[in-house]
Amino acid sequence: MKPIKRIGVLTSGGDAPGMNAAVRAVVRTAIYNELEVYGIFRGYEGLIDGDIERMENHSVANIIQRGGTILKTARSERFRTEAGLQAAYENTKKFGIEALVIIGGDGSFRGGLEFGNRYDLRVVGVPGTIDNDLYGTDYTIGYDTALNTVVEAVDKLRDTAASHNRLFFVEVMGRDAGFIALRSGIAVGAEDILVPETTTSIEDLIARLEIGRRKNKTSGIIIVAEGDDSGGAFEVARKVKEKFTQYETRVAIIGHLQRGGSPTCMDRVLASTMGFEAVNALLKGENGVMIGQVDKKMVYVPFGSATKHNTDINQKMLDMGHILST
Ligand code: F6P
Repeated sequence: MKPIKRIGVLTSGGDAPGMNAAVRAVVRTAIYNELEVYGIFRGYEGLIDGDIERMENHSVANIIQRGGTILKTARSERFRTEAGLQAAYENTKKFGIEALVIIGGDGSFRGGLEFGNRYDLRVVGVPGTIDNDLYGTDYTIGYDTALNTVVEAVDKLRDTAASHNRLFFVEVMGRDAGFIALRSGIAVGAEDILVPETTTSIEDLIARLEIGRRKNKTSGIIIVAEGDDSGGAFEVARKVKEKFTQYETRVAIIGHLQRGGSPTCMDRVLASTMGFEAVNALLKGENGVMIGQVDKKMVYVPFGSATKHNTDINQKMLDMGHILST
């Protein structure tokens, strides 16, 4: 296999705090190994449009602490079209790019692999999504920062809930996975945590709230994952209010706050390590693998298994949450 001389790096899908740390690590590791490295802006859209610039060490100075991604990101329908793929290929040829580091989720990896197989480019993925819903890695970049954003917000909500003797139904992100909801719910001592991986019973929720009321609980926090089968925080609050009138209720949607902010130390170190490993994987001749971290060790996960998952929610942790919150 001929050694590579030029690589491209892009961020794709929903942005995540820590992506900049990963971009920085890719650029500096590449330059350290005497590779030319090109930043591709706006994900696959920029690859199609030729929105591509040579990166130097100074290009990624002073970004490790910044949320978002200096390369910007996008979801690209054009990358699914013949014309889009051909235009993207023309640009890789124009810049002499022989391999790609893709920082994003499984959809971005799948698109990148198909592109790489078709046009003989090697592709390595770095898991960047706050959802933490990818097989093959204990954590994805952005998950820890999003969790801490939720915890900080809910601690504030608990102040006002306690002052007004209210139940707050708080909706968190995760698209169709309950990992943010579960871990943040435990951290804030939520009275209940509703996740898409289990069927929500309003009756069970009310029964739990009634037990708390009888123990003189005057307020409560219920964390609702946006993908929960109950239909979201507003719908759950409405259904509870209908049958359980002992408390006033309010709803808070944390939304895209979970996508912003300066990455935590955990995310900065995870992202730096994964970006560093991604370049080394390409130098070793790897292709079609995502960099993962399992039990503190860095691993290569074939794209085929680095898919979305939300089926293995930790039921024991959910049960513990119920015990600790009553
Ligand atoms: O995948 C990350 C994520 O933040 C999900 O948790 C959320 O449902 C989705 O992106 C929101 O997408 P958009 O930023 O396009 O509204």
